[in-house]
Amino acid sequence: MLPTHRPRRNRKSEVIRNMVQETNLTTNDFIYPLFLIEGQNQTIEVSSMPGIYRFTADRLIDEIGQAVALGIKAFAPFPSINDALKDRLAKESANPEGLYLKTVADIKRQFPDVVIMTDVAMDPYSSDGHDGVVDAESGEILNDASLEVLGQMALAQARAGADIIGPSDMMDGRVAWIRDVLDRNAFSHVSIMSYTAKYASAFYGPFRDALDSAPKKGDKKSYQMNPANKREALRELALDEQEGADMVMVKPALSYLDVIHAVKEHTHLPVTAYNVSGEYAMIKAAAQNGWVDGEKTMMEVLLSIKRAGADAILTYFAKEAAEVLRRG
Ligand code: PBG
Repeated sequence: MLPTHRPRRNRKSEVIRNMVQETNLTTNDFIYPLFLIEGQNQTIEVSSMPGIYRFTADRLIDEIGQAVALGIKAFAPFPSINDALKDRLAKESANPEGLYLKTVADIKRQFPDVVIMTDVAMDPYSSDGHDGVVDAESGEILNDASLEVLGQMALAQARAGADIIGPSDMMDGRVAWIRDVLDRNAFSHVSIMSYTAKYASAFYGPFRDALDSAPKKGDKKSYQMNPANKREALRELALDEQEGADMVMVKPALSYLDVIHAVKEHTHLPVTAYNVSGEYAMIKAAAQNGWVDGEKTMMEVLLSIKRAGADAILTYFAKEAAEVLRRG
C-alpha cells in the first residue's frame, strides 16, 4: 500500500516550509544580559564565554547602542562589585551613587526607550556570595531578613529608572514584598519579572566567573530548586501569580524545556526563559572545535526555547542572533 498521508508535501519547498512554520524568532524576543565592571574604556572578554565581555559603563553604553541598531530593545545588566564594597548585608546594592545604579540611570538617560531589567539578589554585593543574608553562626540563609534587603535594593533600582525588577534570589515571599515596597513609594508602574523556577544549576559557572559572585561557603540548594522537580515549579508559579508578578521566568532553559512548557500551560502571564551562561559556553566551545555549526546550533536552540513556550528569552546570543535574523 502506498502512503495516503504524505507530511513531506508540507516540506517540499522553502516557501511552503516557511508558510507552515509554527514558531518564529524576532529581535522582540530577546533580552540581552550584560556584565558591568568598574573603570573606564575597558572591555574584557569572559574567558569561559567567547564573544561576551565585561564592560566598563562607557563601553556598556556603546554596546547597548550597537545592540539597539540591530533591533534589540531590552537589556539585563549585572554588576561586578569590588570586594572592598561587599558586606554581609549587601549595603552597596542600594547605593544610588554606586556603579550599578549610576549606570542604569545613565543608560535610561541615553536610551529612554530601551527596557532595562535590573537584577535583585544579594550575591554580587555580599561578602558571603549568597543571594540572601547568611546567619554568621549557623551559615543558614535567613529568608525574612533577606526580604528587607531585597526590598530596599528593588526600590533603589526603581529610583534609578529600572523598567522591570528581576528578583533572582528565590527567597519566599519576595515578589509580594517588593511589590508592596514599590507601590508604597509611587512605583506602581514598575514591573516585576520573577525568576519563578530558578534551579540550583551547574550551568551558572561562567556567570559566576564573570562576576566573581560564587558563594564563599556551601551552595545555593536551600533556596534554588532541585533540578529533579517540575511540580514544585508550578507551586512557585502559583505563589508568584498570587504575589503579583507581571511575568514569570524559568532558568536555565535547555535542560528545562519541559518546565517552560508546563509553566506556559498553567499561566496566562508572559513566560520567559534564561538561556544561561553555561548553555552559551557549551555551544561556543563545540563550535570553536568545529564540532557543531555554531550559528545553526544557536538558532535551533533559541527557536526550541520559544517552541517550548517562552514568549521572551534572556540570551547572551542576542546580538549574534539578531545579525542572523537581519541577514534573513
Ligand atoms: C544571581 C544570578 C545568577 C545568574 C543570574 N543571576 C547566578 C547564580 O544564581 O548563582 C546566572 C545567569 C547565567 O548563568 O547566565 N542571583
